[in-house]
Amino acid sequence: MQHPTTVTAPVLEHHRLALGIGEPAPRLSWRTRTDEPDWVQQAYRIRIVGADGATLADTGRTPGADCVLVPWPGPPLPSRTRASVRVRVWGGADGAPSPWSEAATVETGLLAPSDWCARLVTPDTGDDEEALPVALLRRDFRIEGDIVSARLYITAHGTYEPEINGARVGDEVLEPGWTSYHHRLRYRTHDVTALLRPGPNTIGALLGEGWHSGRLGWDGGRRHHYGRHRSLLAQLEIHRTDGTTQLVTTDDHWTWATGPLVRSELYDGETYDARLERDGWSRPGHDSRDWTRVRELPPPTARLTAPTGPPVRRTRTVPVREVLTTPSGRTVVDFGQNLVGRIRLRVTGPAGHTVTLRHAETLENGELALRPLRQASATDRYVMRGTGAPETYEPRFTLHGFRYAEVDGWPGPFDPTGVEAVVLHTDLERTGWFESSDPLLNRFHENVVHSLLGNFVDIPTDCPQRDERLGWTGDIAVFAPTAAFLHDCTGMLGGWLRDLAAEQLARPDHSVPLVVPDILDPPAGHQPHALWGDAAVLVPWALYRNSGDLGLLRAQYPSMTAWVGLVAGRAAEGGGVWRDPDQLGDWLDPAAPPEDPAAARTDAELVAAAHLIHSTDLLAEIGELLDEKDDAGRHRALAARLRTAFADEFVTPAGRLASDSQTAYALALCFGLLPGERQRLRAGDRLAQLVRRAGFRIATGFAGTPLICDALSLAGHARLAHRMVAEQHCPSWLYPVTMGATTVWERWDSMLPDGTVNPGQMTSFNHYALGSVADWLHRTVAGLSAAEPGWRRIRVSPSPGGTLTRAWAAHLTPYGRAEAGWRIEGPTLVVEVLVPPGAQADIHLPGRSAPLTRGAGRHVVEAPHLIDDRPVTVTGHPFVAGSDRDCGCGAPNAAPHPEPHGRPHAETPP
Ligand code: BGC
Repeated sequence: MQHPTTVTAPVLEHHRLALGIGEPAPRLSWRTRTDEPDWVQQAYRIRIVGADGATLADTGRTPGADCVLVPWPGPPLPSRTRASVRVRVWGGADGAPSPWSEAATVETGLLAPSDWCARLVTPDTGDDEEALPVALLRRDFRIEGDIVSARLYITAHGTYEPEINGARVGDEVLEPGWTSYHHRLRYRTHDVTALLRPGPNTIGALLGEGWHSGRLGWDGGRRHHYGRHRSLLAQLEIHRTDGTTQLVTTDDHWTWATGPLVRSELYDGETYDARLERDGWSRPGHDSRDWTRVRELPPPTARLTAPTGPPVRRTRTVPVREVLTTPSGRTVVDFGQNLVGRIRLRVTGPAGHTVTLRHAETLENGELALRPLRQASATDRYVMRGTGAPETYEPRFTLHGFRYAEVDGWPGPFDPTGVEAVVLHTDLERTGWFESSDPLLNRFHENVVHSLLGNFVDIPTDCPQRDERLGWTGDIAVFAPTAAFLHDCTGMLGGWLRDLAAEQLARPDHSVPLVVPDILDPPAGHQPHALWGDAAVLVPWALYRNSGDLGLLRAQYPSMTAWVGLVAGRAAEGGGVWRDPDQLGDWLDPAAPPEDPAAARTDAELVAAAHLIHSTDLLAEIGELLDEKDDAGRHRALAARLRTAFADEFVTPAGRLASDSQTAYALALCFGLLPGERQRLRAGDRLAQLVRRAGFRIATGFAGTPLICDALSLAGHARLAHRMVAEQHCPSWLYPVTMGATTVWERWDSMLPDGTVNPGQMTSFNHYALGSVADWLHRTVAGLSAAEPGWRRIRVSPSPGGTLTRAWAAHLTPYGRAEAGWRIEGPTLVVEVLVPPGAQADIHLPGRSAPLTRGAGRHVVEAPHLIDDRPVTVTGHPFVAGSDRDCGCGAPNAAPHPEPHGRPHAETPP
């Protein structure tokens, strides 16, 4: 039988579009498409052809199964070099070759600082304390002769949008994104050949303050974190038919003026006065007599660096779902989904008339709930030009987290079709899916995806709406495994990790900042914090597990070694335990009072000690992978000493922990911190007891939440994990869903059962950290995980349980799509598995000791459904007043909560 086998065009590093990349020898990955069962690759051949048609490399037929991040087989590419790469493979039963793949085109950017001759130019005078209008910068120039190709290399201190001859260049948003501008400034390469013509041309850019000089931080924040002057750096290289290159670069021949964007701030929003538009400002022939010369600044001190992942883009629009009139008579639109982006208007009205849009994530007492935004006004204003024709407006350099917006000043009767939400996020490829028979659980999972996207706007943030939106390291430390399954974020987070390392290694003590890029002032920002700092190890590890990218581990190795070294030193001073009272610990334990999120049930020193051991274990393993044998041995020995100290300090001989809490047991079980089998069994049972006693409501914060279900599964209490995940009373994962949540909340009870907003001053409705349980849903409930880093070997291990009758997950692995799903059909458990070409799956079925191993293809296997009908019960009287039964929902020690509005759950307490 014929099985047509084809290969995808190779992907270079983690770039979907390899234009202007920073890697001179990019690694190559490809996927094979075939329906031949058990197909494996036996050999490959890579051919690289230069722009002139000359062959730069040809590997010939190379035996091997490698197809992920295969080393560049040719000479390193110098700056501005274009090449095309094709691959073909041999495999399957007959070892037949595939046809050549489509060509992937790669072009390097400006790899050396000396490639840049543009000057940094600013329109600013430098003594401004107020937010500045967006500046327009322009330069007219002539092109003599015909154009072969042209590239624009561009970046800014601030945010910018380039234009050439009246046309917008590219579709990226909020460029250059937010890197640690002290160390790394990202530039973008655009192919602008089609926008230029012989004769007169104009290049321009809008320049806002953005993260560089705009206001950042809470309690009023601060402007000018990176400097007082926003500035632009642009280098246009025009290659002509006569073989010469014409350069147009930013310098003091450029001029600037203000335009319609009279105010544009990330937190506060934008004001656009259309009467101030300068028509044709980026076209030749524009009357620029009232424009002022820009000022040249010294070159940027940061390294100019090419992107490692995709840019932020507009990814979809959402229409108004409902128009509401609030009790106070205001008009509010509801988009039906908490999202991140901004509103696009289409409106007709008189000149000077202002339409105001105020954004919020939720309503309280029927009005916009603005308190959670703290000092972010999240307000956009559009002042009409009044041409009589419909006017369209979308903000440029701001974004909001919102589901609702109040519309004020609409001329005439409000027309909801003139308003739509534009969703923005880093344009990541979706790679993971989950579905089950429980609609509430499915909605929860969807909320996790929405919170991921809303908080992946160039950097991984805590939340997208209030005066914060910072790259809190602890949040992504716990969420990275979920994120890496759901979206291909290796490129994006790989870049962010370089900033983490740069910031960390520039500090005298090598502590990891709480936020990256770091804009916090010392001392709070200059002190190591467990879990937050462990992001230095946990995030690269999660990315490696998913992508198999050893290069990323290598790049981060100095950062992770420095982190573990620092904390191990602190621990040594404390006799093996890091004794530091000032930790964030199990942040947002539901028992912590609203105003003190660090006041958790679990001792912060226990949390810190556990994380140090876990990071040291991982570092030892990473040392092995990187062939750093001495380090690996040293770290293994360190972990052993730390384990002994942990046991001495926190574990009783009978297996009780010093903090008798869900988080403490989860950490100890998952990180292997219990010295003996007896203690392990006892700890598992004690955790089960605590979970039952809590009425299956969650009692963990940031540290325990990603682990609690795994800990129960490991301890043989998977049924309790299922029961916890199905719980709807507050605090639980599904409680927000029953309250209508469309994203994951920061607090278990961001909205209280009576519909009011949590009184804590830190209350967001879009925070991914507590959604980190989705990783357990993928790996354990559906049962799909990587058995080895990079997914060449897949583990399928379904865990039916609770009231679920089916569950399914899919992941686009480096080899292709993998799926694992199960359904209960009477007495039978039917498991369906899809294995991509080149990979193998070990299928573990309940009740069978040895796994079944299957190669590429779709497989259906059946096993008896082992019905466990023992009731899942609560111990004690969880709904009665009592300290450890406090639900922590802002209604301490309350009587039974009102039944949430979801479907009632079958397993209710006796
Ligand atoms: C953020 C959190 C963060 C925490 C740590 C909060 O304000 O929103 O997600 O990790 O502070 O202090």
